[in-house]
Amino acid sequence: MQVISTIFELRARLSGERAIAFVPTMGNLHEGHLDLMRQARNHGSCVVASIFVNPLQFGPNEDFEQYPRTLDADCAKLQVLVDVVFTPAVNEMYPVQQTVFVEPPPIADELCGAARPGHFRGMATVVLKLLNIVQPQVALFGKKDYQQLHIIRQLVAQLNLPVCLIGGETVRAADGLALSSRNQYLTGAQRSEAVFLSLTLQGMRQAIVQGARNFELLQQQAAQSLAGRGWGVDYVSVRDQSDLQPAGVGSRELVILAAARLGKTRLLDNIEVRVVA
Ligand code: PAF
Repeated sequence: MQVISTIFELRARLSGERAIAFVPTMGNLHEGHLDLMRQARNHGSCVVASIFVNPLQFGPNEDFEQYPRTLDADCAKLQVLVDVVFTPAVNEMYPVQQTVFVEPPPIADELCGAARPGHFRGMATVVLKLLNIVQPQVALFGKKDYQQLHIIRQLVAQLNLPVCLIGGETVRAADGLALSSRNQYLTGAQRSEAVFLSLTLQGMRQAIVQGARNFELLQQQAAQSLAGRGWGVDYVSVRDQSDLQPAGVGSRELVILAAARLGKTRLLDNIEVRVVA
């Protein structure tokens, strides 16, 4: 495995490669990331990972400075899984002040975008830059960041990028908590409580499968139940998988998405539901 931190060297290394599978990350790698790296091997003869904590996608009061940076441990985990790790510094990715941005679709202002203005613009901008730098045939992203993956799909389709996207299933701890780099911010008591986010979504899915169609009511009940346990709820929302618009009675492929805070730690989760007519 080669660790490369400049765009010039990376392009030279990848110039002869014809089947690159790429997994962009912000590091602090967990089993969810590693699962994507393993899948990547099925899609390319050269697997590239990137580790870059992108300042553009953090708001002024967010955790950019505190975001866990564990490069040595990450590289050790990647050693047998990838061929190249791209680890640019901030001034390599942004040598001049970035004044050209990707304008994400309007859905970027809803759900996570409502609490994190500018987040998806910064995310989409760095993803486009990374895709341009690596030029992979396949790129893999986790479905845990469902809205992010949806926006990246729009980016790739609407800007005609020659890359095939693959969404990896969310990897969970034994109790059901979706793996996330931010889980390590949780205290012991918060970690025990955290499982209720996925349990809440599972309960909603069961209700929908059993015929519940008043999504507004389900959302309210779930948000109230989490708030009653001490969570700060940003949203619980039942959406149509295809466009992430609020699900209607005719929607068949649904996704229930939630973001909620335990203390200062914001956790995300989602669960897909297919309903039969
Ligand atoms: O999901 C992430 O880790 C980041 O948002 C991404 C896609 C690597 C862009 O910085």
